[in-house]
Amino acid sequence: MNTLFNGDDKLSQLLKINDELNHIKDIDSLLDAILYKTRRLTNADAGSIFLVEKKALNFSYVQNDTLRQRDPLNNKQIYSSFSIPVDEKSIAGYVALKGKSLKIDNVHKLDNTVPYSFNRSFDEIAGYTTQSMMTIPLITTRSQVIGVMQIINARDDLGKPIPFKESDESYLNFFAGSATAAIEKAKMTREMILRMIKMAELRDPKETGAHVNRVASYSIEIFQKWAEKNELQYKDIKNYKDILRISAMLHDVGKVAISDVILKKPAKLSDEEFRIMKTHAYQGAKLFAGNVSDLDALSYEIAYSHHERWDGRGYPRRLIGENIPIAGRIVALADVYDALISARVYKPAWKETEVIGMLKQEAGHHFDPELVGIFLSIYDVIKAIRNKFPDKE
Ligand code: C2E
Ligand code: SIN
Ligand code: SIN
Ligand code: SIN
Ligand code: FE
Ligand code: FE
Repeated sequence: MNTLFNGDDKLSQLLKINDELNHIKDIDSLLDAILYKTRRLTNADAGSIFLVEKKALNFSYVQNDTLRQRDPLNNKQIYSSFSIPVDEKSIAGYVALKGKSLKIDNVHKLDNTVPYSFNRSFDEIAGYTTQSMMTIPLITTRSQVIGVMQIINARDDLGKPIPFKESDESYLNFFAGSATAAIEKAKMTREMILRMIKMAELRDPKETGAHVNRVASYSIEIFQKWAEKNELQYKDIKNYKDILRISAMLHDVGKVAISDVILKKPAKLSDEEFRIMKTHAYQGAKLFAGNVSDLDALSYEIAYSHHERWDGRGYPRRLIGENIPIAGRIVALADVYDALISARVYKPAWKETEVIGMLKQEAGHHFDPELVGIFLSIYDVIKAIRNKFPDKE
């Protein structure tokens, strides 16, 4: 498609893409979009974004059309824990270190004079052949390198790998600059949200961050299975999971509006106290009203609907069955499971067999029966999550 555009068309296309990117607020969806559009612009078969974390480049996003066709669901997992030092030895490391882009026509025929070499383990693990490569640093206005974007195997109109063009390089440098600003902004938003979650936790010290992390992780695992069963598109699953993690962590953020006398009461609530407690669902939802972003919309949905019941006897709206948004149904199950299996100020932890018995009994009553089935089918994963985020004493 590359060849269809002359220079002017490409510039206007760039400006349009830039405008679109400014409307994506979630960092994960944003990086996915940046990579996708960059690859389309250059007709690259594959690409990845590394983000600098703790002086190393972490393989954060990868897209590969050839591998995707081979294995639609699993391709990203292959790379999930790839990390490269910022030094002269690798191509990506060199680009991050020098802050200059690098265009390589064939990674297997590198000049003897260059300090870097091509890291073959990527190709070996993936069963892929990298040939041409262009690697661009993501540099902030304060000259800080926050990452590297790498695109691989430009193709001609027949799909054969060819070198990238000089013109690709100058366009992409421009493009990477504006993308970097957007990444920085999204990072700040995410940090603010995480601070908000911390604040909510401080209100409820017994519950701690472990509960929200567990509920978010169970929810993502349940959703993954549910989405596969219901044949959602790979890209939709990935995008949804990214925002689900944060939205699920925020499910009880409305509890900040509840007084300590009620929230920390070491005994059963009175009817009046429970009436007030139940307002936390709506109070939380109100924080995200306006649906500015996908993240706001999902956070709203989850805060509002995580206490609804499949049989319609929940609160606050008494929604029934599939009228309850899927994310609300998922978080309801994850939340109650975790509340029961853990100790609370107002109750001791239940035994595991009792909790499982309760879930089975409540399938079709409190919970979506399909989700209870999924939950039990991935119970080994659920237990691993509990081990990963234990409660503090
Ligand atoms: P939470 O502690 O996060 O509990 C979430 C949900 O788990 C509860 O929603 C309920 O559906 C389930 N759950 C928790 N503990 C038990 C239990 O011992 N038995 C049964 N059958 N289910 C349980 P629910 O009931 O709408 O409560 C919402 C929130 O209200 C709770 O969130 C908690 O913060 C507070 N709360 C509920 N009951 C009490 C109580 O007796 N004392 C105090 N101090 N807080 C309570
Ligand atoms: C985001 O869109 O990533 C943040 C949501 C917001 O607070 O507007
Ligand atoms: C490198 O940049 O040398 C390693 C990353 C890759 O092989 O794509
Ligand atoms: C569903 O309930 O099946 C989907 C609705 C949603 O995405 O919230
Ligand atoms: Fe709640
Ligand atoms: Fe909860």
